[in-house]
Formats: sequence, C-alpha cells, structure tokens
Amino acid sequence: MKKIQDFNIYANHRLNYETFILELKAPEKLPEIFPGQFAQLKINNHPQVFLRRPFSIHNVDYEKNTISFFIKIIGEGTRSLQKLNKKNSINVIYPLGNSFNLPKQNNVLLVGGGTGVAPLLLLSKSLKNNNISPVILIGGRSRNDILQIKEFEKYCKVLITTEDGTLGEKGLVTQHSVFQTDKFPFKKIYTCGPELMMKAIGKFAKKNNIECEVSLENTMACGFGACLCCVVETSKGNKCVCTEGPVFNIKYLKW
Ligand SMILES: Cc1cc2nc3c(=O)[nH]c(=O)nc-3n(C[C@H](O)[C@H](O)[C@H](O)COP(=O)(O)OP(=O)(O)OC[C@H]3O[C@@H](n4cnc5c(N)ncnc54)[C@H](O)[C@@H]3O)c2cc1C
Ligand code: FES
Repeated sequence: MKKIQDFNIYANHRLNYETFILELKAPEKLPEIFPGQFAQLKINNHPQVFLRRPFSIHNVDYEKNTISFFIKIIGEGTRSLQKLNKKNSINVIYPLGNSFNLPKQNNVLLVGGGTGVAPLLLLSKSLKNNNISPVILIGGRSRNDILQIKEFEKYCKVLITTEDGTLGEKGLVTQHSVFQTDKFPFKKIYTCGPELMMKAIGKFAKKNNIECEVSLENTMACGFGACLCCVVETSKGNKCVCTEGPVFNIKYLKW
C-alpha cells in the first residue's frame, strides 16, 4: 500500500561529479518494495521546486530500515537533493508503480545506460534471492560514468561498455559483443536508460523473440494519473507511466 511519510537523511554521498546516492531512513518498518518501483520526493521550502520528483528505488536495507536512490543532478530539484544532510528530512510517497516480473529460468541479461542502472540493483538482488544469476551490461560515456560496480558484483556478472573505450568494450551498449553473437544466450532482457537505447534493445529483443521489459522514465508532473503528461502508447491503449508503469513488456509498446 502507498505511504506518505517524512524520512530522515541517513547518508548522502557523491559517486562522481554529477551522481550521488541518497539513503533515507524510514520512520517505521518499511513495507515490501519490489524491483522497478519508484518514489516521489518532495523538496521542502524551495520556491522553484514545487512538484515532487520521481526516482527509482535503487536499494532497500530492511535491517537498517533505509531506502536508497541513485540520482543524477539535472536541475534545481536534484541539485537541492544533493545538498541534504542528516539534519534534514524529506517527504516521500512510495512505493509507486508496478514492478519487473521475475523470470522462472536463468539466462537473464540486464542492460543499464547512465542512471538507468538505478532500478537494476534491486532487481539483481531479487533475482539472486530467487537463485537466478544475472549478467548486467552497463554503458556510459567514459569510465567515470560506470558506477556501483562493486554493488552489482555482489549479485551479477558485470559487463561494461564505454563510448571512449576507457573501460570495458568501446562503443554503445547496443554494440557490445554479447549482441553480436549468432547464439544470443539470454532468454529475458530487462533494461532502463536513455529512450533510444531502450528502443534499440527492444527492437533486438522483438526480432529475436526474446522477452524484454523496460522501465520508462517519461517526464512526470502529478504522479497519480491526473495530468496525463507521462502517457505512453501501447497496443492496449494509452497508459500512464506513473500509475500503470513504469515497467512495460516491450511487446505491448508502440515504439
Ligand atoms: C519513474 C521514474 C524513475 C526515475 N528514476 C530516476 C533515478 O533513479 N535516478 C535519476 O537520476 N533520475 C530518475 N528519473 C528522472 C528524474 O525524475 C529527473 O531527472 C528529475 O525529476 C529532474 O528534476 P530536476 O528538478 O533536477 O530537473 P528539472 O529539469 O528542473 O525538472 C523539471 C520537471 O521535469 C521533470 N523531469 C525532468 N527530467 C525528467 C526525466 N528525465 N524523467 C522524468 N521527469 C523529468 C521533473 O520531475 C520536474 O517535474 C526518473 C524518472 C521517472 C519518471
Ligand atoms: S504524471 Fe500525471 S498522469 Fe502521470
């Protein structure tokens, strides 16, 4: 069930010049949170930032009773979140949206581009807890953009591409050798990242008859299905990403 609560800041640390992890401590026992779900964060007392900002839930620690977000600084909202410290609290609506469907079989590939890796850590953890050993392919512009490798290595085999070739294979994620083989070994793909990347992966999956789920990050305003600004076209009609997503099976998307 959806909750609206004030959380204390547990930790806030930079990963690189534009990305940070915000860890929040819940005021009461956390409900079960499923991979792919997101939260809407309210930045208090900011004159220019009145709408809540949506972020995927990156990690959950039920022992510490904390949830974490992997956030890239874009504008005023994310800049303000980066400045929060232990003296601050923040209002959170969570857990929102649907979640990834866990597969029954092994041979699972996760593909994350940029901040698209955010929902994939909790997914990796859930897969591992279900005795599935995923492979994750992470793409970025250069080695400084490839983050959280040690965290992912707890649950996955990690493959990397960088556009400048400073880490892993050189090129875009979609150019990684894993996609070039005749016998693509994976039966299911989960992906999140820039729309063009997800579309290319979706196209590959459709062509090769592979199950594929994407987590969409359409721009949101209200976050509860009223303003329709987050709508995506599907074969079952227009769907709000905020209430009926963010996770969609590629076979239903009109991309
Ligand atoms: C379901 C979902 C999950 C997301 N998860 C993450 C995540 O884990 N990590 C992360 O860094 N970012 C994530 N985003 C994107 C993040 O919400 C935006 O980068 C952030 O809202 C920008 O706010 P801002 O005030 O800094 O920027 P501004 O440009 O000032 O934002 C202005 C408005 O546009 C909206 N907006 C701007 N960019 C985006 C965007 N790319 N997607 C959606 N709304 C946007 C904001 O919500 C706000 O209403 C997610 C978006 C969605 C929809
Ligand atoms: S954000 Fe308003 S309907 Fe989805």
